Amino acid sequence: CGIVGYIGYEDVKEIILGGLEKLEYRGYDSAGIAIAHDSNVYICKEKGRIAKLRECLDNKVTGMLGIGHTRWATHGVPNQINSHPHQSSSKRFTLVHNGIIENEVELRQKYLKDTKFTSDTDTEVIVQLIEKFVNDGESVELAIRHTMSELKGSYALAILDGDDMNTLYAAKNKTPLLAGKGEGFNMLGSDAMAMINHTNLFYEIEDKEFLKITKDSIEIYTIYGNKITREPYKADIDASDTEKGTYPHYMMKEIEEQPFVIRKIMSEYSDENGNMKIQPEILEDIRNCDKLYIIACGTSYHAGLIGKQFFEKIAGKPTEVVIASEFIYNMPLLTEKPLFMFISQSGETADCRAVLVKVKQMGYKTLTLTNVKGSTLSRESDNTLLLYAGPEIAVASTKAYTAQIAVLAILAAVVDNKIDINIFKELGKIAYSMETLCDDKDNYKLLAEKYLKDSRNCFYIGRSMDYFVCLEASLKLKEISYIQTEGFAAGELKHGTIALIEHNTPVVAVITQENINLNTRSNIKEVKARGAATLVISMRKLSQETDEIVIDDVNELLSPLATIIPAQYLAYYAALLRGCDIDKPRNLAKSVTVE
Ligand code: G6P
Repeated sequence: CGIVGYIGYEDVKEIILGGLEKLEYRGYDSAGIAIAHDSNVYICKEKGRIAKLRECLDNKVTGMLGIGHTRWATHGVPNQINSHPHQSSSKRFTLVHNGIIENEVELRQKYLKDTKFTSDTDTEVIVQLIEKFVNDGESVELAIRHTMSELKGSYALAILDGDDMNTLYAAKNKTPLLAGKGEGFNMLGSDAMAMINHTNLFYEIEDKEFLKITKDSIEIYTIYGNKITREPYKADIDASDTEKGTYPHYMMKEIEEQPFVIRKIMSEYSDENGNMKIQPEILEDIRNCDKLYIIACGTSYHAGLIGKQFFEKIAGKPTEVVIASEFIYNMPLLTEKPLFMFISQSGETADCRAVLVKVKQMGYKTLTLTNVKGSTLSRESDNTLLLYAGPEIAVASTKAYTAQIAVLAILAAVVDNKIDINIFKELGKIAYSMETLCDDKDNYKLLAEKYLKDSRNCFYIGRSMDYFVCLEASLKLKEISYIQTEGFAAGELKHGTIALIEHNTPVVAVITQENINLNTRSNIKEVKARGAATLVISMRKLSQETDEIVIDDVNELLSPLATIIPAQYLAYYAALLRGCDIDKPRNLAKSVTVE
């Protein structure tokens, strides 16, 4: 979910709506806005996108204090009633919330037995509780801090008090929130992007902090009411990077930025002589550890699987990759000197953060690979490596995935280069090959039409490095086209899943590794014999009887950076041809800040 708040001298409507649009990547099940208008709080909320909210807003309502929210549903179905903002019974307090309150049932029992609730959300408990404590005689500030001390779980809150239209309150725990400092106005937002069109000066907010914001001041307090002095930092984000320009979709733009991103990474990670360069303390941590534990989710997890190959094959460092949400409850047996590496495009994923908090408590060293400078994981880890991919807006990750792989390859080779691979030279070839592949997109559109447009399901098969690409390729296809797709180790298919192959079931094989080339080609024959419609993405064309996308000859270890490009396009065009919402697929959010 995403939050924006503004207090100042301009009409808030456009400021809040514009900010929410920048935050839609965090969820778009429903959206809402509250505006302090005359002596009332005007509320408008709708199921669906911000565009829908725009249509329903009463344009006559103006105000210079407001809060907005875009929701990814956790508690309660996405409908108008469960949308934020929520109000207390008397309507004095209005708030928006990101996160999950774990003890809402207990709180209802303990304090709010007589309160009539209007929604199914955990959020309503917060606003009712604030009102209850105020009714009991507490000041607004105390009531909010008291409520914070009662809440178990995660929250970023923006709160309006209908009796005081000159103050915007906020609170944070385990869910990202920043305050933006302006001239004659101040803002709140889940991330800097939501405010960047208005200011580039931000205050980081720590867990269990409380904020009192007026148009001229931002005051930060601990949960106990002690004032904190903190300097704002300047964010170097270019607001224009978040526009899609002439591209029909962000996803297409981001796919085609990949060659540029690879070159940018090479320049960011090189010294004045053009050699690869990584901060010495990071190298020391990796060299000193006896095992690397890579923790990630989704696409970043898939990049981690490839990273493991780099660390083990190039640097000779034992590496284990664990899904963050699994690690937290089912920790593998750790070695004596582990190092934890978090891979996260956004740097905000709650599942990763939960692991970070846990391993820090255990006293272990941590490193984060992220695209977002100043993000929570970056701030809270010992060290950070940035991806330099530029803002990624489409929910389906493309350029962040290849950026992660490129940075992992450089890192592994700088730690130790046991196989003497010239990573920069190989990445240069990759960037060139990516461009050639992007030039062939019309062909991928035809293939998507032939193989995927009307398919119910699909398989990606591959072995070794190709298998990891298949996992990512299948995630891309399923998340935006809704075709049920599985990535499979090619040799494993025959041990059960081959039962699903029917007449015309699409099977896409990825084949770049010389040592398994013939094995995977045998697997293609097996599925073909059972009716599958097969398509191959390979480095060296062999067969004549199947459509084959051939990539340039690149280093086999780095081949995922090239083979994923046609797979990303296949997903893009399949979704386009099926009339899907490419940049904002149903049910998903780009950044999931709840566990
Ligand atoms: C969400 C997104 C995925 C992403 C995952 C991890 O589920 O929909 O595309 O891969 O989060 O995100 P992160 O920002 O940690 O890489």
